[in-house]
Order: sequence, then C-alpha cells, then structure tokens
Amino acid sequence: KIIPTIMSGGAGARLWPVSRETHPKPFIKLADGKSLLQHAFVRAAVLPDVEQIVTITNRELFFKTEDEYREIAAPGLKCTYLLEPMGRDTAAATAIAALHVQQVYGDDAIIVLFPADHMIRDLEAFRAASVKAIELAAKGRLVTFGINPEYPETGYGYIEADGENVVRFVEKPDLARAKDYIASGRFFWNSGMFCFSAGTMIGLMEQHCPEILAQCQASVLAAFQSKVASGTQVTLDRDLFAQVPKNSIDYAVLEKADNVAMVGCDIGWTDIGSWNALAELTDADAAGNRINGDTVLVGTENCFIQSSDRLIGTVGVSDLVIVDSADAVLVAHKDQAQNVKQLFAQLKDSG
Ligand code: GDD
Ligand code: MG
Repeated sequence: KIIPTIMSGGAGARLWPVSRETHPKPFIKLADGKSLLQHAFVRAAVLPDVEQIVTITNRELFFKTEDEYREIAAPGLKCTYLLEPMGRDTAAATAIAALHVQQVYGDDAIIVLFPADHMIRDLEAFRAASVKAIELAAKGRLVTFGINPEYPETGYGYIEADGENVVRFVEKPDLARAKDYIASGRFFWNSGMFCFSAGTMIGLMEQHCPEILAQCQASVLAAFQSKVASGTQVTLDRDLFAQVPKNSIDYAVLEKADNVAMVGCDIGWTDIGSWNALAELTDADAAGNRINGDTVLVGTENCFIQSSDRLIGTVGVSDLVIVDSADAVLVAHKDQAQNVKQLFAQLKDSG
C-alpha cells in the first residue's frame, strides 16, 4: 500500500501579508490559478496505485482544504483528514500520520510525505523519483529527495550523500556552513518530502524522539475512543496533543537516524518559502522586474511587485519586494525577504 500524505498545517510566516493564520501558504494561488495545496494533491495522485490520500492539517482548515480538493479531485480517490487542534510542528504531524497508517494498513504500508509549500514543475520526473524512493522505503530505509543546490540557502536542510546512502543530514545550517557544503560539491538540498514505511518511522521515533511519539500515540488513541474519529476524519484530542513537544521532523529524526537514503532528482523543484522564491515563478522583464498584477513603473529595477485590486506605482526604486493585499501592504528589501517572518511574529505578539 502506498499512502501519499499531505502535510499542510504550517503558518507560512515569511509570506505575510498574503499568508495568514487563517489563509496559510498552501492556499496561495499561483499564476495558473491553482493553489500550492491543489498542486500537492495532483502530485500525490500521480503516484502508482494510489487509492487514498491522507491530509494532516489544522482542524480550522478542514473545510477550506476539502473545497480545494473538490475543485480538482480525481473520482474514486478517498480522502482522509487527520486534524490537529493546534500546530505542534512536523515531527508531531509525521508521527500522527505514521500511527494512523500503521493502525489502518499495518507496519509495511508506505507513506510518501508531501509538504504543501513548494512547487515541482516536472511531474513525470517526480513520479520516477518516487518509484525509486518507494523501493528503498520497502527495504526499511528513510528516504529523502535530494535537489542540486544553487546557492547557500540557510532555510533548508542539507544532505551529504554517498550514492544512495546519506552520510549526514544537517537542518538549516548557518551561512558559513552552508557555503562550505556548497563548495564541497557533496551536498544536496533536502526537498522536504520523505518516504518511509509506517513501521520504520515509528521505530525511528521510539529511538530518537520517544516523548513526541508517546504523546502523539495518546492523542490518536483518545480520538479513536471518543466519537471524533469517523472513517475519513480523525480530530486529535486538544489537551493531549497540546502537550506534544514542538520540533521538526528534520531535527527530531533526520539528523539522528542512520538508515537514511537519498534519491537525487532533477524535478524542477522550487521552495515557496519566501517572496523571493514565489517571484522566481514569474518571468523577469528587461529591467529585472517580476510583476503580478497592475503596476506602473518608472526607473524601477529588480523588484518583485504583486498587486491585488489596486494599481501599484513605483519611482526610482530597486531590489524591493512589494506585495499588496486587501488590508495590508508589504515593502521589504529583497535581501531581507526571509525576515518577513519576524514581522509576522511581532504582529502575533501584539495580538
Ligand atoms: N499538519 C501540520 N502541522 N503541518 C505542518 C506543521 C504542523 O504543525 N508545521 C509545518 N507544517 C507543514 C507546512 O505547511 C509545510 O507544508 C511543511 O509542513 C513543511 O514545514 P515548514 O515549516 O515549511 O518547513 P521548512 O520549510 O522550514 O523546512 C522543511 O522544508 C525545506 C524545503 O522546503 C525541511 O524539511 C527542510 O529540510 C527542507 O529543506
Ligand atoms: Mg517550508
């Protein structure tokens, strides 16, 4: 059994103002009119022998998610929702998915875990890479998808590979280390997708993050004992899930595990982690500007400008990110696009 699992409960703080808590990153629409979440669904559906797709997300996003899927859903494909009362980061989400799949399909069922915040342009190449990953996962490996790195990005995980074996996995290194990794030529970017059997992941979590696993187990169990778990919807217990330690799967498991494998792939992968990444999806004009929507530009260079309903005019500026939304406008320097998450955090603190 192959169970594609979409993980879409993150906040996407770096894409403020378009990404908010009630409208997180997976719901952002690309130029083709499809959201990142819909693209993730389409990718999940092209895997071989897929009968059902599992989604783990915040319970506030359930109806919105269902609507998105309904617009594109393949008939006969069953959708199951694992609903979190609050975000406890990706180690918890992965644990919940693995426990659920183990319970329903057993230890050998294979999960292909998809984040919903990146784009993959070459679906065929992606499918081929997944087939390789599924083979390795069936042999008990925890499989990563390695992307050829382009620059020393500090927002990604790095994979040092020796053939299909992973020597080292380093999550979000500082700039000096990221530069060394790129220079060495032995490292790949981690795409954020993983493939493993339910039993393999649960075994690794018992070893490397037992508190997370145990607390997730308690929340899943409570959901099944109360009436909140139907065939296609499992809502996790609020009090129990709130106690799950927050950590990402990358720090909690990938950095520690010793059975990690990598499938190197050239699939047209772009992370949509910041406005710079989103900008890359729009072609630049002769002055290096990337524009979505109505603008009038004078002496403007190397800017990314996205308007919603209003016309945006700029004069004599360069290297800016300008994003308009109904009730907020972002103006940032391109080099600081990663720091938009600080702005988001500050807003949250001030209520
Ligand atoms: N259900 C659920 N619950 N989903 C979550 C949660 C949560 O608490 N937190 C994050 N997610 C979802 C996000 O919506 C996203 O689709 C995915 O999980 C990845 O989480 P991010 O928070 O975006 O991770 P990241 O971008 O910092 O890092 C990961 O992705 C990089 C590539 O894009 C890591 O795997 C890096 O190693 C990797 O390079
Ligand atoms: Mg991300």
